[in-house]
Amino acid sequence: MHGEIVAFPTETVYGLGAHIFNVEAIRKIFIAKGRPADNPLIAHISDLAQLESITGENPIIARKLIAQFFPGPLTLVLPKSESVPSIATAGLKTIAVRMPKHTIAQQFLRACNVPVVAPSANISGRPSSTTWRAVRADLYGRIGCLLKADQSQVGLESTVVDCTSEVPVILRAGAVTLEALQTVIPEISLADQKSLTVIKSPGLRHRHYSPSAMVVICQYPQLIVASNDTAYIGLLTPPHAEAFKRILICRDLEEYAHTLYQFFHECDLAQVKTIYCQSVSEKGLGLALMDRIKRASED
Ligand code: TXA
Ligand code: MG
Repeated sequence: MHGEIVAFPTETVYGLGAHIFNVEAIRKIFIAKGRPADNPLIAHISDLAQLESITGENPIIARKLIAQFFPGPLTLVLPKSESVPSIATAGLKTIAVRMPKHTIAQQFLRACNVPVVAPSANISGRPSSTTWRAVRADLYGRIGCLLKADQSQVGLESTVVDCTSEVPVILRAGAVTLEALQTVIPEISLADQKSLTVIKSPGLRHRHYSPSAMVVICQYPQLIVASNDTAYIGLLTPPHAEAFKRILICRDLEEYAHTLYQFFHECDLAQVKTIYCQSVSEKGLGLALMDRIKRASED
């Protein structure tokens, strides 16, 4: 990577990576994204030997989750080894680790032959990028290289699970659902998002996932009044669908998650003023989807 930062595809969203032991390269990530220095990065690995090189003693529970869900859209917060520079973890004694499933991500990580720390490849506060075009639109001229691939399959960021507390807690809902995690750890729960402290997951305090347009959550799409500066995304079709500037009716939750950020991105390009998002039940993937939509709708 020669001290440069590289945008690369993963199955969740595109990442912006740097060599985990190169402090100068990591600094470039924070500058390119305008990312607050107190927001730690996720280390991306290609095999379990790399996991051992950057973490301390791993709890048994983490090993169970790894056996079940790696490679895939699950990130584990584990004790950090001394060798990892503190800029990567924003000074925390823990490190978040994930092994992507995406073929190009795996090839890239194997070629790097070292863990790669990477946040999502977007300007801080904006929706994560799920296409290389969205990465280019946000970061053109700020990064050394962009690896092109298809649109990210999942479309929402990984699930983050803190394995350093007595009972693991979900810090960020994601593609690996609460229900799936409960099959391995029945007592796992979602952290109370309001009381997540600076220590536990600093990134969650920052403004997130917001397009320029105003995002409005609606439970009853049949009540929306369409106009040529509004857009709609959801499962049900609202009345006068042709009158919206942009509209996307999704087959199911998977398609809703897969297309949400790309839809936000397109609405911004089309200078849409208001995006209506249909609310869904917070079960399965619906939990992560509603988390992102709610954050996008906050001021
Ligand atoms: O799917 C994903 O996770 C994508 C792809 C590129 O892997 N990455 C991603 O990174 O979403 P980012 O930086 O946008 O979000 C990382 C989240 C933040 O909420 C951050 O606070 C949390 O993980 N995090 C990172 N390290 C942590 C740690 N040591 N303890 C607690 N939370 C941590
Ligand atoms: Mg991000």
